[in-house]
Amino acid sequence: MLNLDLSGRPALVCGASQGIGAATARTLADCGATVTLLSRNQQRLEELCTKLPGSGHDFLALDLGSPDDLAEALPRIAEGGYHILVHNSGGPPAGRAIDADPAEFEAGFHQHLIAGQRLAQALVPGMRKAAYGRIVNIISTSVKEPIPGLGVSNTVRGAVAAWAKTLSRELGPDGITVNNVLPGFTQTPRLDGLVAGKADKQNASEGEVRAAMLAQVPIGRFCKPEETAAAIAFLCSPLASYITGINLPVDGGRLGSL
Ligand SMILES: NC(=O)c1ccc[n+]([C@@H]2O[C@H](COP(=O)([O-])OP(=O)(O)OC[C@H]3O[C@@H](n4cnc5c(N)ncnc54)[C@H](OP(=O)(O)O)[C@@H]3O)[C@@H](O)[C@H]2O)c1
Repeated sequence: MLNLDLSGRPALVCGASQGIGAATARTLADCGATVTLLSRNQQRLEELCTKLPGSGHDFLALDLGSPDDLAEALPRIAEGGYHILVHNSGGPPAGRAIDADPAEFEAGFHQHLIAGQRLAQALVPGMRKAAYGRIVNIISTSVKEPIPGLGVSNTVRGAVAAWAKTLSRELGPDGITVNNVLPGFTQTPRLDGLVAGKADKQNASEGEVRAAMLAQVPIGRFCKPEETAAAIAFLCSPLASYITGINLPVDGGRLGSL
């Protein structure tokens, strides 16, 4: 029997108020995990928390881009003794790298790389004790093929991928796996925002922008957040015990590289 059972496993799911993070929280709860939802919007988290299947779920309103807020929350996060960390939040604003203010890079590194490092440092001791740890970073296909017009994102995601690969080699002996999921075009508010921005810039309709994007996807449709969540849940499960240090695209075949 395939073992996707996460009963009794505490899981911290970041960026959980909508999109891929919210779908992941639901899927992990379906698999039996006790989930803590994290993002900035407390009201939304509270609503989602009551709708999760199972019991014992919780939420934490926190801005991962604020080093001070994160430092203050870390003791509570460490106490959670999470066996699973889904490291996820919103993507940096679009724009060309050459046009970005250096402060945009700094903000991106704080929200993605440094927040991940602080969360991992807080949680790895508990994972070691449990002899079970799963860290899954939600980043982007841009770590394999940088995406035009996402200069800061491309740069920061690459750093997160290199960090995760390094961690996977350091933490393997402790039974802790570290993997990255690379979403393709996924039907979430993030995608809606990118489509609207492109339509504006290209003086095209949103329908035309969507059609051009879909033309790049062999499967011929956008991904449902639940489909990305299924891949994440697999990596969090006992089934994926020998998989670490990988980049798993969930992109309908869009990436052209091997
Ligand atoms: N959707 C796609 O097509 C696609 C493609 C490639 C990569 N990705 C990446 O995959 C990740 C998830 O994508 P998504 O489409 O689900 O994004 P989304 O719809 O924008 O949702 C992002 C989530 O992160 C939370 N968040 C944003 N900033 C935060 C912060 N500073 N601190 C804590 N939480 C924060 C948001 O909630 P609050 O507002 O409540 O904080 C929200 O729950 C993003 O990094 C995105 O760039 C997405």
